[in-house]
Amino acid sequence: MGSLATIAKPWWKDAVVYQVWPASFKDTNQDGVGDIRGVIESLDHIQSIGADTVWMCPIYASPRIDFGYDISDYEAIDPNFGTMADVDDLMQECHNRGMKFIMDLVINHTSDQHKWFQESRSSKTNPKRDWYIWRPAKYDEKGQRLPPNNWRSNFVGSAWTWDETTQEYYLHLFAPEQPDLNWDNLKMRKAVYDSAVRFWLEKGIDGFRIDTMTIYSKNPALPDAPITDPTSEWQSGRKWYGDQPKVFEILKEITAITSQYGEKMTVGEFGALKNLNVALDYVGASNRCVGMGFQFETVCVGYALNHWHIRNFSLQEFKQTFGKWQQFVEETDGWTCAFLENHDIARSVSRFGNDSPRYRATSAKMLAILLATSTGTLFLYQGQEIGMTNVPATWPIEEYLDISSQNYWKSVKTATDDKAVLDGALANIRKVARDHARTPMQWSDKPHGGFTTCGKGPWMRTNDNYVDISVEKQAHDPDSVLSFWKQMLALRKQYSDIFVHGTWRTMDVENPATMTFVKQAEGEKALVVLNFTDQPQPVKIPEDFRGSKPLITNLNQWYPETLSAYEGRVYVA
Ligand code: GLC
Repeated sequence: MGSLATIAKPWWKDAVVYQVWPASFKDTNQDGVGDIRGVIESLDHIQSIGADTVWMCPIYASPRIDFGYDISDYEAIDPNFGTMADVDDLMQECHNRGMKFIMDLVINHTSDQHKWFQESRSSKTNPKRDWYIWRPAKYDEKGQRLPPNNWRSNFVGSAWTWDETTQEYYLHLFAPEQPDLNWDNLKMRKAVYDSAVRFWLEKGIDGFRIDTMTIYSKNPALPDAPITDPTSEWQSGRKWYGDQPKVFEILKEITAITSQYGEKMTVGEFGALKNLNVALDYVGASNRCVGMGFQFETVCVGYALNHWHIRNFSLQEFKQTFGKWQQFVEETDGWTCAFLENHDIARSVSRFGNDSPRYRATSAKMLAILLATSTGTLFLYQGQEIGMTNVPATWPIEEYLDISSQNYWKSVKTATDDKAVLDGALANIRKVARDHARTPMQWSDKPHGGFTTCGKGPWMRTNDNYVDISVEKQAHDPDSVLSFWKQMLALRKQYSDIFVHGTWRTMDVENPATMTFVKQAEGEKALVVLNFTDQPQPVKIPEDFRGSKPLITNLNQWYPETLSAYEGRVYVA
């Protein structure tokens, strides 16, 4: 087994990135919405965990139909979050501390309120008409108007919206308020590069998280998608807009720009991509597209991102995909990353651990061991460091505010009043809605978890368990999830050759209860054993590691031949 250590090591490979979803991070001006000042005030906390890079989710001007992923001006800040001066301060404050600062780059679409779209929709002859994707209607035999093709929006329903003014449809792979840009138009490309990319590089940011990077380019014929969901009128068109040849050209152009400003982090969303060869086309250093990509096969095991057909999954499946995306860059010039949470998916302790009071902390620490020993750049999401959980199952549907949850719920309710079907839909929402990650950060046991002192409360209800789970409660408790993360990230740094840059081998592929893997670098290696169940499990420590005491465990007591419920252990040799 070789190591990845022989290839170049830019700063972003060893980075530990802390993702901030600003609306729910910290409110300092008592309006119930988190703000940029709140992030500045919390940098001590972020840094104390061991994170050295802040990724700020969109704070650009936006009507917030999709919480900032619908941008109406790339060069302005949403006043709900603060001002441009606040962003400058935040970036400066990160840099003063030796930390890096990256931002979201959302350029598959803009908001329908962006001036470009306003112009584009104003007439068929407007010079910006072609900056978005407009098509005439189709008509069936009865003369009924139909969208140009059968593509489904990622937020349910058709991906096309009829525009009365100019009597044409426009394409939106997400909400109707998020029209897709036409990347075949070179003037549009240049405008995006200047406004969304260069503008922020000039300011001195350290990189971009590139939203939906695989879907910018659409097959120009916009053919109908194959029928993969016979129950629906609308089908995934990914075949015609995922990983098209031109998308690589676009990403290369972006990287050509970022690299004029020094060594920048670029991490793009792979979305539904599962093919490793294609993934390498994106992240192979010689291709000069992006530094790394977020794969969703692992975190979406049992369902597909933006689909609501949730089934149970086995630990074998989880291990298979986790290992696959750890290993795929070995012997290549590519790079990978590791994460179990972000603003689009459920809380990891609820999905992969056990969020009951008895096992929550232990299983959150077990998952911390998994991530902190994983190869690639590490991404932590706000609240993960204290083991925040999904919202309680007792919350009514009205508490779920995300457009994706609400659209799904409405679509099911319109289609049926069958109680079993409606209950099934609610069960899906309770498992994987994006809302679970978007509840306010739990800072203390004060009202609303100390997130806000706004009289009206926070914009979204705080998870009721803030009384038990909060930063304040955990900061000085050596046994807390937070303290454990600090220890794990210190070890990750100390053993970075093995953990960040080492190779990965899963040792117990078939075992339904435990996850065992070996990380290896030149002359050193580590064994990680994790119990994903609430029952004790037998464990056999291989010869090479026997005799040595564990480097760390998440329980105070450990037994040589047994793993207790949700126990995790690391050995080095
Ligand atoms: C990405 C974002 C998600 C957003 C979507 C559309 O997947 O992470 O939050 O809804 O893109 O921009």
